[in-house]
Amino acid sequence: MDKLVIRGGLPLSGRIAVSGSKNAALPILMAAPLIDGGVCYENVPRLRDIHTTLRLLTLLGCETEFEGNTVQVKQANELQFEAPYDLVKTMRASVLCLGPLLARLGRARVALPGGCAIGARPVDMHLSALEQMGARFDLDSGYIDGRCKKLHGAHITFDFPTVGGTENLLMAASLAEGETILENAAREPEVCDLANFLNACGAKIHGHGTSVITIQGVDSLTSCTYPIMSDRIEAGTYMVAAAITGGSLELVNCPTHALEAVIHKLRDMGVHIQDDSDDAIVVTARKTVRCVDVTTLPYPGFPTDMQAQIMALMCVSEGAGTIKETIFENRFMHVQELVRLGADVKCTTRTAFVRGVEHLQGAPVMASDLRASACLVLAGLAAKGTTEVQRIYHLDRGYEAMEEKLRSVGADITRAKEA
Ligand code: EPZ
Repeated sequence: MDKLVIRGGLPLSGRIAVSGSKNAALPILMAAPLIDGGVCYENVPRLRDIHTTLRLLTLLGCETEFEGNTVQVKQANELQFEAPYDLVKTMRASVLCLGPLLARLGRARVALPGGCAIGARPVDMHLSALEQMGARFDLDSGYIDGRCKKLHGAHITFDFPTVGGTENLLMAASLAEGETILENAAREPEVCDLANFLNACGAKIHGHGTSVITIQGVDSLTSCTYPIMSDRIEAGTYMVAAAITGGSLELVNCPTHALEAVIHKLRDMGVHIQDDSDDAIVVTARKTVRCVDVTTLPYPGFPTDMQAQIMALMCVSEGAGTIKETIFENRFMHVQELVRLGADVKCTTRTAFVRGVEHLQGAPVMASDLRASACLVLAGLAAKGTTEVQRIYHLDRGYEAMEEKLRSVGADITRAKEA
């Protein structure tokens, strides 16, 4: 397994280009079985989860090609309907193939995604919404076995604005009979990117970006070429990298419009942010950056995927603050690793109490999930001495060429093999 070796204390300075969004690319690629003919996807980040998704599409009978940051997918004649456990267990987002397969084939057999490091992450809202559209599910030896004649429109209200649930239902409803209304739908920018992609293929979706989305089913969807939006969480991570090292970074291809809550919170902490352009942002640390209180919320609130990263910054900021995690039940595994670096953080299940310290001290630490690993890299960039972040296969799921990007703006960071 690989690790990252970081010699901290160097202020970052320069320009980083933000890659395509993992969390937009995954559902948009999963929609491929819905589309007649081939689809060309641009600005696709080269990530482990993307390769996993392409492997799944191949298993389902699609032909895929990944050159640079462009993916071509075309359906072979015979679509399959099974997503095997060996693959689903490595990427919970595989459950996003449920909606497309039921809409296209009337059949889907998807391994029930086990929990993952950050929580149980059930799919009950996906299933109950699809049942309202006429699907029936059995649980058979760890697989969700779904069947339907032809999905029909329904008026669905989610108990919680589930991102994946909204995405599965957008894809299912695009080819269903009649009108579907989704209430309490997720408003995340990645959900909007999926809706925009489906509309570019001929779907009739309105209201995405608000809590009420209406979809008129159509008979078929046709191919298009689609550029994936930029990754707001990758961008937010590098914004923190500038702040935590006392440096200054310009981020280009940056989805500034989708970062309002993060910009607002970092400004509250005293970070200087210039965001007068649509797709570029300049982040400059000030001498005094102070702790604030953060509560993670569904979009447009502060994103849970930035919780670990802002905690790293608060660990070396003035004063104290609390971080409330309202989306996942176990998303503080980075806390104990930060404490190994000398951070002063105490936490209950859903609330962390952070008191800033003068500086962190480098040490070997272990990543537990994607955003926790990003948090530990950020902490290592700020810490005195050397930090080794182990098990960075977690990081490779969601950050394209992170060490190259950080080295290009002055970080001392190298990848090595764990002993
Ligand atoms: C998406 O996960 C993202 N993943 C997550 O990013 C992100 O943290 C999350 O949305 C929230 O923004 C992708 O887009 C691939 P949810 P998803 O359905 O769809 C519960 C990252 O780091 N829930 O909104 O799984 C669930 O357990 C990843 O890039 C149910 O109870 O999120 C969780 O507590 C991590 N039943 C909460 O809702 C359901 O049927 C949010 O889940 C569905 C969800």
